[in-house]
Amino acid sequence: MILPSRSPRLRALPSRPSAWRILCALALAGACRALPPVPPAPIATDRPAADRLATARIATDPSPIIIAHRGASGHRPEHTLEAYALAIAMGADYIEPDLVATKDGILIARHENEIGSTTNAAEQFPARRTRKVIDGDTISGWFTEDFTLAELRTVRANERLSFRSHAFDGRFGVPTFEEVLALADSAGRRRGRVVGVYPEIKHPTHFASIGLPLEPRLLRALRAQGLDRRDAPVFIQSFEAAPLRALRQQTRVRLVMLLSARAQASPDSLAAIARFADAVGVNSRMIVGADIAAVPSSVIRDAHAAGLLVHVWTLRSEPTFLGARYRGDPLKEVREFAALGVDGIFGDSPDVVVRGLAR
Ligand code: G3P
Ligand code: CA
Repeated sequence: MILPSRSPRLRALPSRPSAWRILCALALAGACRALPPVPPAPIATDRPAADRLATARIATDPSPIIIAHRGASGHRPEHTLEAYALAIAMGADYIEPDLVATKDGILIARHENEIGSTTNAAEQFPARRTRKVIDGDTISGWFTEDFTLAELRTVRANERLSFRSHAFDGRFGVPTFEEVLALADSAGRRRGRVVGVYPEIKHPTHFASIGLPLEPRLLRALRAQGLDRRDAPVFIQSFEAAPLRALRQQTRVRLVMLLSARAQASPDSLAAIARFADAVGVNSRMIVGADIAAVPSSVIRDAHAAGLLVHVWTLRSEPTFLGARYRGDPLKEVREFAALGVDGIFGDSPDVVVRGLAR
């Protein structure tokens, strides 16, 4: 990601004699080091829809943005630096890390805290298998919160889906969020363009309940990279509204409420969401069904009327996923959502989205 020069806070201080300023600076230096970062003022929640939309779109975002879902996960094991790097090379505007925490409180990129189905943790740590209730579901496997980062450094990622290539199984590690941010930054600088990050907090209530809240760690990581600002190329997403509402009080970074069912997107619901979020991330079927005869819904229009951007997930090219209405051509799906007016497209294959948008 290309970072703008950061404006020094001291510019905001009132003018004083220089000796006084030097003494104050010396006296405060030690204390300031011990203080937590000051969060930016929250943004107003009662702005008109047009104003909301205007500030949700930043100058470096094309329309629609291309979001590499879990990296170029159609081509490489998901949530690996190699999957993210390939996505950037393919032309993705944003890379999407889902985030969970390790036992020692480090944010890592995984779709869920159970990692048995996307890594070789079962081979590396056979005795660490356990059973837990996560968000009401009983799940058996290997959980990130039971491993230190040092332990997870010995684990390798595997492809999740049986019908995708397994040529890269066992070759790539599990990255930290900091490493994902560093990759976006360095790849953006190298390519002379902005590469954004689109983190999703996974199971935030569960992680808070075990003393490993994700949100403060996420904000700390963004602040360390100068990304806790309104015009940062960042979207924070969640399926849970409460953590997003709390985040709205702590950051001006753009927030995305994820929705999976049409019933969640009534005009009244969207108006309520617009009080804390800047966008909705919606299941593609909420916009148009898979059948040839399906008629597009009013979700995009209603969300825009509420002042919310609309990002659609998740476009995948394989016949298992592609709706019948596209007759085997994933480019048709990309073109349809672009024509319907979405502001962002999540894709497992960013190269397909790039081609569909003729970029
Ligand atoms: O985050 C958007 C989309 O990725 C939600 O689905 O399950 O892939 O995180 P999931
Ligand atoms: Ca996600």
